[in-house]
Amino acid sequence: MKKIAVLNGPNINMLGIREKDVYGRQDYAALCAYVKEAAAKAGVAVELFQSNSEGELVSLIQKTYGNYDGIVINPAAYTHYSIAVLDALKAVALPAIEVHLSNIHSREEFRHRSVTAAACIGQICGLGFKGYALAIEALAELE
Ligand code: DQA
Repeated sequence: MKKIAVLNGPNINMLGIREKDVYGRQDYAALCAYVKEAAAKAGVAVELFQSNSEGELVSLIQKTYGNYDGIVINPAAYTHYSIAVLDALKAVALPAIEVHLSNIHSREEFRHRSVTAAACIGQICGLGFKGYALAIEALAELE
């Protein structure tokens, strides 16, 4: 069975509290439950991690090497400027899909650019929790 790591960056643990008009009313526990159900449906094993610090996110990405078959990552704010997260994704070279709950392209200009997506096979944004399920499904079907 394929193993997928689902990594979430800063403030994703504040779902349900932060900017509900942007991120919805469901909390991080609900996201974890949703992701686990999506993984079960796709027939893959999944583990979830969340960190508010860039270094820890880099370490989590590094730990996927040799231990997972794919990565679903929402680098949150680090998306827009973290060369360290980009380099970590390039280093482990696993198929990775970047997910954003909100449509980063319909928001502030500084959110339009992702520096981390360059190390991913694709990016899904604006579909809320569903984006994670679609990313898991896509990784599960990857040859
Ligand atoms: C986000 C979008 C980012 O711009 C923001 O910094 C986040 C969440 C999203 O899931 O929509 O924290 O990655």
